Amino acid sequence: MNRRLGILISGRGSNLQALVDATRDGRLDATVALVISNREDAAGLERARRAGLEAICVSHRGWPSRDDHDRALVRELRARDVGLACLAGYMRLVGAPLLEAFPNAILNIHPSLLPAFPGFDAQRQAVEHGVKVSGVTVHFVTPELDGGPIVLQRTVPVLDDDTGDALAARILEEEHRAYPEAVKIVLDGGWRIEGRRFLRSPNVASA
Ligand code: GRF
Repeated sequence: MNRRLGILISGRGSNLQALVDATRDGRLDATVALVISNREDAAGLERARRAGLEAICVSHRGWPSRDDHDRALVRELRARDVGLACLAGYMRLVGAPLLEAFPNAILNIHPSLLPAFPGFDAQRQAVEHGVKVSGVTVHFVTPELDGGPIVLQRTVPVLDDDTGDALAARILEEEHRAYPEAVKIVLDGGWRIEGRRFLRSPNVASA
């Protein structure tokens, strides 16, 4: 897998920033080749441009179908020779054209310990459910929402006086550490996927 990242965003882009910072301070040997937002007003676009990165909007509106939007994303990513796509607050389902163009090469970060609390508002869901521990999951993207093989998880305790927002702030700090680590693990290779499992230990059967 080449070390050129394409980062897909829809909003503020703090995880994008965390990835960029990690590439620049030596924690992550990778290049952010392109940032794409589906929304022109995403604060993350401005953040990326300030960091000197190429950052474009490919709106999800105006295409004949969802797949056509996905195909446009594939064209942009391929044009920059991207090897790994990282979703960072990208608020769209990823369709077949993108999944097929980047098999086992699209990551997402989610603010809960999946499979608990997929979808929107995972932090508020965790507080309302009353779990004592939540956290962060970095996983491969598959057709199932927040459902692909898990690369890395980190726990964050849920406190008695937590609100969704307070928990979200602590989870976000953990996300910023976890995402660069997970990207490094994937880029460094030596892993395999068996069923749902992302495994880094040597394959006993072939040893
Ligand atoms: C993060 O909580 C991420 O886990 C979720 O969306 C949020 C994006 O935040 N998928 P940011 O745009 O990276 O600041």
